Amino acid sequence: MTGTTTYEIAPSAARLTGSLRDIGYDFPTAIADLVDNSVTANASRVNVYTHFEPNGSYVLISDDGDGMTERALIEAMRFGTRRSYETNELGRFGLGLKTGTFSQCRRLTVVTRTTPKRATFNVMTLDLNRIARTDRWDITAGETSAAIERAKDLLRESPGTVVVWEDLDRVLPERYAESGWGRRRLRSLASKTAEHLAMVFHRFIAGDVPGRGEVVICVDDEKLRPWDPFAPDEAERTVLEEHVFEIETANGSSEVRFRGVVLPARDRFSSLEEFERLSGPLKWNRQQGLYIYRADRLVQHGGWSGLRGIDEHMKLARGAIDFHTDLDESFQINVAKMSVDLPPALRQMLERPVQELCVLADDAYRRSANSGGRPDSTTKSSKASETALRDVGIALKAALLEDSSLAEFRGVVETLRARHPALAEQLDL
Ligand SMILES: Nc1ncnc2c1ncn2[C@@H]1O[C@H](COP(=O)(O)OP(=O)(O)O)[C@@H](O)[C@H]1O
Ligand SMILES: [Mg+2]
Repeated sequence: MTGTTTYEIAPSAARLTGSLRDIGYDFPTAIADLVDNSVTANASRVNVYTHFEPNGSYVLISDDGDGMTERALIEAMRFGTRRSYETNELGRFGLGLKTGTFSQCRRLTVVTRTTPKRATFNVMTLDLNRIARTDRWDITAGETSAAIERAKDLLRESPGTVVVWEDLDRVLPERYAESGWGRRRLRSLASKTAEHLAMVFHRFIAGDVPGRGEVVICVDDEKLRPWDPFAPDEAERTVLEEHVFEIETANGSSEVRFRGVVLPARDRFSSLEEFERLSGPLKWNRQQGLYIYRADRLVQHGGWSGLRGIDEHMKLARGAIDFHTDLDESFQINVAKMSVDLPPALRQMLERPVQELCVLADDAYRRSANSGGRPDSTTKSSKASETALRDVGIALKAALLEDSSLAEFRGVVETLRARHPALAEQLDL
């Protein structure tokens, strides 16, 4: 080849920042992406504040993490931050801070402090109005406003970072920004955010993540209680055996864990309030299915990822899938961390355990609906043979379910119950 010529064609800042606003966040998921950053920066407290004021509303996300030096802050403001990640760091694309922010507002300021003794701040602003005007990727230092001053106040005592959102054009479109509607909307988004954060960070809030303490998260001064889809405190739940799968990566392999849990039916829950609380944001039926955790942070909450459909009878079935960040590509995590795909190899390996989970969940559901409770075992057979028969029952159900439709299967069970009630009971059908 001879004489090739290279042209650098840097993207238009004005055009690109405009289009990057629409990559699939909503208010709660955008905030969650910023909380990821706080958690990664070793924060033990994260506060989200929403402030309504006619034409001056703002949102603050503050943490007591490591903070950033001026250099680190300038790099952090870049679309596509240049840095390397350690295994299981929650960041990935170097975009979340910017894309999450601009999905909701036009002006991002980061106020940060690393110095433990002196209250010195680094303050940088990225403003879409400015970029639209200049078509340059510029940030400005030392801007000020009521929101930025409040952010500094939050860092008066110790290091940390506060992200400031102003000019909330997507949250409060102009003509509503002054009205009571705007106030109500901001309040309702705050409560949705509280619900979302309590769910996606429940392991962090509960202190369940190995190697790190509890992370306190507050939204408008209300401390979040973790929402754990697996109801660890319920005595009547059934926890199935864990399955560990090896999935190949570009340079080796990585473990994926699956554990199914059958939650207790309503009449077996410790209280009606707990049953309602565990129902979740989308309620029991739509919260059945897979809960996928990337480095302990939830990236999918419910649904069966195409393995099967939502079914009223399976509403007590929930399964946890855990993967490490070295499988990001196999799971095709998206920028907003709101969707993943199961790698095809894993999909296949999950079929049986998911089937088993669903059979047991169906059982638990029908027991409560039909008889209001499990019959006491009155057979004389020994514990061991009881267990063996139950296992036969489970295997039988799993096999039948795989081949035939649920309706046909139920017919078979009914017939067996009618003809051989004792055996049906022993088989735990
Ligand atoms: N709250 C924070 N505390 C400390 N550093 C932060 C904080 N938020 C962002 N950063 C820094 O900014 C960088 C860019 O963040 P982001 O755009 O969310 O991309 P990513 O998290 O994928 O790296 C992070 O990698 C981190 O170094
Ligand atoms: Mg991030």
